[in-house]
Amino acid sequence: MRAFHAAHPAVTVRTMAHGRAEDGRSSYEILRDRVAACDRVLDLGCGDGLLLELLAERGRRPARALAGLDLSAEELALARRRPGVAQADLRRGRAQQLPFEDGRFDGCVSHMALMLMGEAEQVAAEVARVLAPGGTLAVAVGGGAAGDEGYAAFLRVARPLFEAAPAGQRIPSLGDRRLRSREGFDAVFGPAGFGPVRWETVRIDLTGPPERVWATVGGIYDLGPLDPAVTAELRVRFAREAAALALPDGRIPCAMRVHIATAVRDA
Ligand SMILES: C[S@@+](CC[C@H](N)C(=O)[O-])C[C@H]1O[C@@H](n2cnc3c(N)ncnc32)[C@H](O)[C@@H]1O
Repeated sequence: MRAFHAAHPAVTVRTMAHGRAEDGRSSYEILRDRVAACDRVLDLGCGDGLLLELLAERGRRPARALAGLDLSAEELALARRRPGVAQADLRRGRAQQLPFEDGRFDGCVSHMALMLMGEAEQVAAEVARVLAPGGTLAVAVGGGAAGDEGYAAFLRVARPLFEAAPAGQRIPSLGDRRLRSREGFDAVFGPAGFGPVRWETVRIDLTGPPERVWATVGGIYDLGPLDPAVTAELRVRFAREAAALALPDGRIPCAMRVHIATAVRDA
């Protein structure tokens, strides 16, 4: 994963930041709003810092104390360049061993990162440790394609190519699937000291011109180690499928489901 983000920093922002839920917000903005009352917020797996920038909300009084943690030095270097994030405490490290003292935060967010992390119980224990009692955890985790549109069409053509790739060109299974469901989330975070999760599934519309939809679907980790010739073949096959779905204005309908999970650290 570190190699993928080193080669493609800001990949998630390019993939998802333009996506909108039915109410007009991006999935990043939904998380920002879930911790609106928090003054000391940690972004776990912060990537290139877009969510931290939204949290910095210029002019907010009192200004928030923000921190971000990520495995990737390249992502953090981009985050440091964002004007709103200059004051944040950005650390390179693993969520399984947080370099922050007990009770330092009253909010913790994580956008499309938590479900990729192994040793989920250890991550939950660490989040519980650095959150003060009553603190809020708000995360967005991927829920797959929504409807039979561009994203679903991509997965239909991509899966057989991924499965046919030699072992050295396939990614290992990442993270913990339990964090993609309400029951699994509670099973991991409940024993760590969190109340029952509030679980909401939103449809994120990523419809756009063919190039942008390719940038969206092509942002998945599986493409990282794939032979470039296979990726090129996939792009051709996807373009064919996408053309059949095109709207009268040429845009390709595309949507994904994102689960928004919020839980409160026991007081
Ligand atoms: C899909 S990206 C999301 C980045 C950012 N949150 C966003 O949505 O734009 C996942 C991020 O989580 C980071 N990550 C994955 N596992 C991690 C871990 N165990 N500890 C810290 N960061 C991790 C990756 O380096 C990557 O930047």
